[in-house]
Amino acid sequence: MSSIRFSDFERIVFFTGAGMSAESGIPTYRGRGGIWAEYKYEDYACQRAFDRDPEKVWDFHDKRRAVVRACEPNPGHDIVAEVQKKKPGTIIVTQNIDGMHQRAGATDVAELHGSLWRVRCDAEEIVREDTSVPMNPRKCSCGRYWRPDIVWFEDQLDHRVVRRAREALEQCDLLVSIGTSAVVYPAADLPRIAVQHGAETVEINLEDTPLSPLYKHRLRGKASEVLAELNR
Ligand code: APR
Repeated sequence: MSSIRFSDFERIVFFTGAGMSAESGIPTYRGRGGIWAEYKYEDYACQRAFDRDPEKVWDFHDKRRAVVRACEPNPGHDIVAEVQKKKPGTIIVTQNIDGMHQRAGATDVAELHGSLWRVRCDAEEIVREDTSVPMNPRKCSCGRYWRPDIVWFEDQLDHRVVRRAREALEQCDLLVSIGTSAVVYPAADLPRIAVQHGAETVEINLEDTPLSPLYKHRLRGKASEVLAELNR
């Protein structure tokens, strides 16, 4: 088992992907049973699809809201939130849009790909939280459809969130990557910053990823089980 112990570090970055929420029952995107195996992102998760058929895109996101709402944070989410409480210098940089880290009590969460629980009207320049399942009403008072505040394929990431993540990765003494296939850029590139700044690096995943060679400690297993080991 790894010699890494969270208690030995002060400024931890947890860099999480869909595998972090898999044990809660939320499907990942790739691999067996992945969302993109069943749905083409060109039809459900890009601006072009939304412009073409906003009702269809909302039906898809309402399904995702219902799935996430019916799930609970898993012990892995709880450990990450607990470590953050003990070590205030801890930040969570997540690609997940499910809000599970926050539901487990985490506070400082940089959501690189936005959130399932926020909507925006670009015409009115309004961004607001919305937890209705299904989303209702789907239209803003200006008559346009509310848009899920999610970074879809072909979208730019929010530069403020990226800057926050970069700063944390430059200053951290431990980077823990959890449950990401490391194939979606520019998010997948961010962990390099921690390596370049001399942080200790851990990758937790069921299997190897294209970026596994980047990490000093490659721990194979379920996120909640491996996190419990490192939290002893
Ligand atoms: N514990 C640890 N790792 C796990 C677990 C688990 N219980 N279950 C699955 N994994 C790993 C898989 O082996 C895989 O490497 O989690 C990873 C999930 O990969 P993806 O489904 O590709 O999810 P992610 O890397 O978060 O996707 C990145 O792609 O679709 C876009 O915007 C979307 O944020 C998403 C981005």
